[in-house]
Amino acid sequence: MTILFDAFFAATTDSELADFHPQLRAALQQHYYAKPHGRSAEWDQALASLPQAKLTDVDLSQERITLPLPDDWQLDQSQLRDTLMTFKPWRKGPWHYLGIDIDTEWRSDWKWQRIFPHCSDLTGRKVLDIGTGNGYFLYRMLGAGAKLAIGIDPTRIFLYQFHSAQRLLPDNGAHLLPLRSEHLPAFGCFDTVFCLGVLYHRRSPIDHLQELMSYLRPGGELVLETLVVPGDKYTILVPEDRYAKMANVWFLPSTAALENLLHRVGFKAVRTVDVNQTSLQEQQSTPWMTFHSLEQFLDPANPDLTIEGYPAPLRATLIATK
Ligand SMILES: C[S@@+](CC[C@H](N)C(=O)[O-])C[C@H]1O[C@@H](n2cnc3c(N)ncnc32)[C@H](O)[C@@H]1O
Repeated sequence: MTILFDAFFAATTDSELADFHPQLRAALQQHYYAKPHGRSAEWDQALASLPQAKLTDVDLSQERITLPLPDDWQLDQSQLRDTLMTFKPWRKGPWHYLGIDIDTEWRSDWKWQRIFPHCSDLTGRKVLDIGTGNGYFLYRMLGAGAKLAIGIDPTRIFLYQFHSAQRLLPDNGAHLLPLRSEHLPAFGCFDTVFCLGVLYHRRSPIDHLQELMSYLRPGGELVLETLVVPGDKYTILVPEDRYAKMANVWFLPSTAALENLLHRVGFKAVRTVDVNQTSLQEQQSTPWMTFHSLEQFLDPANPDLTIEGYPAPLRATLIATK
């Protein structure tokens, strides 16, 4: 595997994170290097065939992360598109990649727009993004002023998407480690921890909230986005089987129940800042993500219900302080 993490270790060698380098190296050895993905060789080859350069004038605060094609570059656009297609499914974005628009399954910029105005100012902050996907949000965090944005996500294809972008960008504070949050030490030093779209995938939500707390410094901020259901403080839906065709959904609380859980875990200043029912425009199949998407996950006769008859996906953002 050609993707290495030297840049992360070098960037954090003079920080509190250096204390955790041995544990992180061991986790990467155990969960990444020792377990190559069946398509690693194909993806390594595709990645190596992409242009590598340090583009100037990249503005990471744009909704579409834009890696502009320099005027003096001659590229075979059809070949480039085919190479980028090797990394399908592209779920989080949108991106503009050297002349090609990558329209992803999700309008992640809409999620960011709902969340970002409620976060403490990210300027100069050290942030951790659990379940980051392909790093789209890491760049938006840097664009909002964060000095270091560490993403954690075990899904290999997203690591390749991230490095497709990284190889064109000047050295920057975004780093993606292909680990699970369970593999991380209790850093206790991040200013902000984001956890967007992950809690419902975890079998043990209270343990997960405790993990998230353990990464924060005292006074640090948790930004938690997850699926919720309508209801009161005592409402928690545990799907009998699938939810919106997803097999790995375990736990959908009401916002009041989730606020209560955050208090029980010890968070302060807990508040729900946004609730939003996902629209068919925000999550849909595209040429870059050709599997079924939200439209096929809903009851065709009633889009307020999932195909299984549960309330349709409703997402809440909660903010809390350690
Ligand atoms: C629904 S996606 C959310 C992606 C992105 N944060 C967003 O909000 O659009 C869930 C992501 O969490 C990752 N994930 C699942 N279990 C995880 C775990 N235990 N630790 C870290 N990431 C995990 C998956 O690989 C996937 O990319």
